[in-house]
Amino acid sequence: MRIYRKAGDRVELIALGRDLDLERGEYVLASDGNSTLVLQVIDVEYADVPGALEETLRELTTDALGDLVRYDPMDVESHVRAVRDSRLVITKLRKVIGGPSISLPSKYATKIRKASPHEIIGTQSRSRIDLIQLGEEVLIDPKDIEGSVTIVTGRKESGKSHLAKLLSTSLVANGYVVLVFDLNGEYVSLGLTKEGGHSDVHDRLVTLSPGLDYLIPIHSVSQEVLADVMTFALGLPQTSLRELLRACRDARERGRLSLRSLYRAVSTAPMNESVRDAILNRLSTLESSGLFSDEPGLHDRLLEELSTRHGRLMVLDMSCLGPLQRRILVEYVLSCLREKLFTGELDPLILFAEEAHLYLRETYWEDVVTRMRHIGISTVLITNQPDSIPALIYRQADNVFAFNLRNGTDIEHLARNLDVDAETLRAILPNLEKGQVLVWGKVVRYLPLTFKVLNSCLLTRGETRRRTVQRESTTPSG
Ligand SMILES: Nc1ncnc2c1ncn2[C@@H]1O[C@H](COP(=O)(O)OP(=O)(O)O)[C@@H](O)[C@H]1O
Ligand SMILES: [Mg+2]
Repeated sequence: MRIYRKAGDRVELIALGRDLDLERGEYVLASDGNSTLVLQVIDVEYADVPGALEETLRELTTDALGDLVRYDPMDVESHVRAVRDSRLVITKLRKVIGGPSISLPSKYATKIRKASPHEIIGTQSRSRIDLIQLGEEVLIDPKDIEGSVTIVTGRKESGKSHLAKLLSTSLVANGYVVLVFDLNGEYVSLGLTKEGGHSDVHDRLVTLSPGLDYLIPIHSVSQEVLADVMTFALGLPQTSLRELLRACRDARERGRLSLRSLYRAVSTAPMNESVRDAILNRLSTLESSGLFSDEPGLHDRLLEELSTRHGRLMVLDMSCLGPLQRRILVEYVLSCLREKLFTGELDPLILFAEEAHLYLRETYWEDVVTRMRHIGISTVLITNQPDSIPALIYRQADNVFAFNLRNGTDIEHLARNLDVDAETLRAILPNLEKGQVLVWGKVVRYLPLTFKVLNSCLLTRGETRRRTVQRESTTPSG
């Protein structure tokens, strides 16, 4: 391969077709001993060889004459063909190593070779023990996920949840505490391998089904958390909230807080009747959600399990919850986490949220980038609708994993908000196969990298359930 020309960050290489062994997204290093260009392949085209059209037309006319035996003792023909069949490799200049960024290696003295992901991420010399393996030669540092906002996006069935499961279990194996809002009950079986044995995280996996084996003790809910749930999940106006909190304080002063004592306090306290109605209405919704309990000795299992010093995969199985129950639960959990992390009762954790737009209120997004990460909640957002995540989050995201996307609007949405040029995204994203991902951000030192996510031996329940249609075998009669 040789460097052909450069315009801006677009560098074109010329290669003979038979020598070409490159995929979109792969890296090549072009070095002349002084400086090295780090180039990412985004497409391959036929080189525009002068006279090629005329040659092809001439060949077409001679084809019609049948197999001609040409006199070609020096085998010139094969060389001519190799030249005419040469390829133009379109790459993007990502970095210049050694020398100022404007410096270019000599066109003639430059050697071009493929670079492994290890070289690009700079992990070749690091110990594997504290890294997480995501692809064949792709190892990432879990510290780049911690304290960060990570987005995983792509079409349905493109491999997002597969990556999220690999990432979450690896983080837990490395000692991190991970909490998953599991919308479809996909993470509950990660303790087992496909062969039926125990996986690495078997002893660290705890699954809770809210409303079933996990009930929130109402007596342990603080004023602030109750206020968050009432305001953000149930839309209680501020004036009514003040009355509710006053009633709540009264009820606590008289003894242990319960839904019953709250009802009583609200029903008897002097207040405007429409305010009373609004509060009683919300209390009844809270009760009928089935998520809370008045049981005296009950502890909050979620908080107990999360306050571990060892790795923990905490899965909240939300597959049986309706939309309102989901919103109440998520508001409660986030508000509680914020409180406990702030007071130091909990250690930092990593939150995995699948299709978060279905249950997270809009103002939460600002919280994610402004407050959440500072108090110790790192967030991994997984969605098949890239535009459901506001532009603000993309611009502040530390890592983005993008799987196959075909829809032009989705790609443009990413192009507008990420620090990866639109040409790269347009060339690579629609051509990614299932399980192949383009990743950009801290984890890859801000050099966009494409790779195939490792297959996993864990038992997952992500497969879309399909109805098996059994055709009745019809035997011809007679
Ligand atoms: N890298 C991969 N290797 C092997 N199988 C994969 C890979 N990525 C995805 N799959 C499989 O493809 C299917 C869809 O993947 P999934 O991650 O559930 O898609 P999504 O969450 O994007 O809708 C699953 O059955 C999953 O096991
Ligand atoms: Mg999924």
